[in-house]
Parts: sequence; C-alpha cells; structure tokens
Amino acid sequence: MGQKRVALVAAGITKFGKRKATFRDLIAEAGKATFDSNKNISPKDVKAFIISTVYPERSAFQGHPAPLAAEWCGVRPTEFHERVENQCGSGTSAIRTAYAAIMSGLTDLVMVVGVEKVMVPSHKEIFLNAMAGSDREWESCFGVTPPPLFAMVAQAHMQKFGTTEEQLALVSVKNHNHSKTNPYAHHQKGATLEQVMTSRLIAAPLKLFDCSTNTDGAAGVIVALEERAKSLTDKPVYILGTAQINDGYPWVAYPKDWSTWPSLRFAAQKAYEMAGIGPKDVDVAEVHDCFTISEIIEYEELGFCKKGEGGRFVEDGQSDYGGEVVVNPSGGLIACGHPFGATGVRQAWEAYIQLRDEAGTRQVKGAEIFLGHNLSGLGEHHILIYGRS
Ligand SMILES: CC(C)(COP(=O)(O)OP(=O)(O)OC[C@H]1O[C@@H](n2cnc3c(N)ncnc32)[C@H](O)[C@@H]1OP(=O)(O)O)[C@@H](O)C(=O)NCCC(=O)NCCS
Repeated sequence: MGQKRVALVAAGITKFGKRKATFRDLIAEAGKATFDSNKNISPKDVKAFIISTVYPERSAFQGHPAPLAAEWCGVRPTEFHERVENQCGSGTSAIRTAYAAIMSGLTDLVMVVGVEKVMVPSHKEIFLNAMAGSDREWESCFGVTPPPLFAMVAQAHMQKFGTTEEQLALVSVKNHNHSKTNPYAHHQKGATLEQVMTSRLIAAPLKLFDCSTNTDGAAGVIVALEERAKSLTDKPVYILGTAQINDGYPWVAYPKDWSTWPSLRFAAQKAYEMAGIGPKDVDVAEVHDCFTISEIIEYEELGFCKKGEGGRFVEDGQSDYGGEVVVNPSGGLIACGHPFGATGVRQAWEAYIQLRDEAGTRQVKGAEIFLGHNLSGLGEHHILIYGRS
C-alpha cells in the first residue's frame, strides 16, 4: 500500500463584504455552501469538525465557537471538534490540523470552517480588536497596527532594491481586476493605477488601495483520506505538501532587514520538498497580500523570481494571466477581503475550484499545482500545496 494521502472533497464560501449577517449566520451560510458543493456528503457524514476564527470573543461576544459552529452546520461531531487560532494564518493552520488528524488515524474526514465577523458597529473597535493579535506589553500598548509596520517593510525594500510606489500599486491593480470575476469578493469594480496612486495615504508609502480590506466572511472545506475522497468525488484535490514556521513573535525579534523574510524561504523549500516540486511548477497561487509589499516579497521568498526582483515581476505581468504564475486570481486579501479566520479556508476554496476547472472566467487553464500561503507576522508563515493528482 502506498503512503496515505489527503484531499479536499468539498468547498463553499459566503459573499465577503460589509455584511449584516451575524457570526453564526456567516457560519451557517458557509456550511450550507460547503455541503451544496458535493451532494454525496451530508452533515451526518461529518464526525470531526474544526473552526478557524480569531477574535469572536471581542467582535461577536462569542467564545467556545467550535461546538456552536458545528451545531450551525448541522454537525454533531463524535470523533473530535476543535478551534484553531493563529491570527491571519488561522485558516491554513486549521486545514493543516485536519490533515494531521487524518494522517494520525484519528478520523478519515474533517470539516473545516473559517469565519470572522470583522465589521462591528463602532468602526474604531475593528482596530482595537486586531491589535489583540500582537504583543500587548511590547507593541499594541503603543498603538502599533499592521499598516505602519508594513510601511517600514516597504521602505526597506524600496531602499535596498529600488522597488517603486508604482510597482506596489500594480499589485493592487492586478488583484482588483481579478476580483471583478469573483462574485464573492468584497470589491468588484476593478482599479486603475491612478486610482491606487491617488488613494488616501495610510502610512507612507502605503495608500488605502495598498492595504487589505476589513471584511466579514466565511468559507468551508471538507478534507478526507484518499480512499474516502475517491468514494465521494471523481475529482479530489490533493494536499501534496505543507509547512509552517514561527521565527519570533514581536516585530523587534525579527532580523534587522525587514525586506528579506528568511523564514518564508525556509518554509517554502520544506513544502516544495514534501510535494516533490519546485517553484516553477506552481501554476496558480493565493498568497497573503495583506499589503502590496507583502505580495512582492512573497514572489521572491517563494522562489517565483530572484530576490529583489518582485517589483519588476509584477510590472512585467509575470504574476498575471499569461505570466509565470497567476497570483491571487480571487482578488486576494486586498480586493476579495480579509476576514482573518476565513482567509486560509477561502484560499483552499480557490484551490478546489481552480484544480477542478470550476473557476469560470478566472480559470487558470491547465492548472495542475496550486500554492496557498498565509502569514501571521514577518517570521510566521503557513503554506499548503495542492495538486490535481
Ligand atoms: C487601511 C485601513 C487602515 C483603512 O481603514 P479605514 O480608514 O477605517 O477605512 P475603511 O475601512 O472605513 O474604508 C474606507 C472605504 O474604503 C474602502 N476600502 C478599504 N480598503 C480598500 C481596498 N483595499 N480597496 C478598495 N477599497 C477599499 C472601504 O470599502 C470603504 O468604502 P465605503 O466607504 O464605500 O464602505 C484598514 O483597512 C486596515 O487597517 N487594513 C489592514 C488590515 C490589516 O492590518 N489586516 C491584517 C494584516 S496581516
């Protein structure tokens, strides 16, 4: 018998955006969409359940979310139910946990739902909530939020490699244009270079359109052992490789040069090795574009281009249709939106539809290999590589 393998067998998503839906409404909507995506699976078949969510205690006044979410998906888990939280990387972490549970023999099928109710009536509270994810005594007590930190990353990259503000903006233009074909995306109007360049300054050089959007949303996937997967669908989407790294928590713990992310390079090599592929084999990727500069550095550290050439890579259209690798066809965090706990699961949904030729007008033709990446800090990365076979 060959080595055990694990695959996605179902995937669904809610509309992302400023939603009136509550935390539990979003869960129920994603649960229904997930079951609707594969009529061979019903809630009674699911005995293991994972919820990925970051701060429901703050934004929805709801703790203990795993059994609540299972209930609202119609599931009564008898094998296990867990919550996974790793800030922005929670969704990918949750799918890795499902993978590990299946590989360990604890179960052969797990449902994973990722959700975040980000939009709260008091707008400023969104930022307070997000700050709970960084070091309280060293950082967030001083009011530090991600935009100024990533602005310093951008400044370092521009100084060291000559990356320009226009190149940053082109990431946003690309992702906004991609999201026009994603009916679930928060923003669907597209964007021009001028629109991005003249949008409101947030933290120099980052402008509003360089930043990921605050969004409500949820997504779900079902992951199964190969034998079970084959009995549920004729097109399982296999997990070929994965890696996770945490190389320091507070930002001051990172190496001085923020333009270079060695931990991502390390994790990517590990994931490629496990999958038996190299970066040139990746056809389509959803990477963590929390800010435009992040996507540029991710091209480099994931090995899509040489170090320092990320700006030119996007400028030359190499991360778009017709280029080396299509990056963020969904619109990414910038245009599809970033409901923290849902984002990694939303990326897996994109893998599911792309590798089954179900992505409609944004289909990457002939895509065989998909890479999903989340970060939860400059030194903390989560990767999953999927394949058709
Ligand atoms: C950039 C940021 C500070 C802007 O916050 P803000 O000043 O409160 O702005 P709002 O969220 O109210 O957005 C203002 C408008 O711009 C729109 N907008 C926000 N981001 C946008 C984007 N990337 N593209 C297009 N429009 C965007 C909003 O939808 C809103 O439109 P509306 O008025 O029609 O509803 C905030 O979005 C932010 O902090 N983003 C980063 C989130 C983050 O750190 N995530 C974790 C990363 S690891």
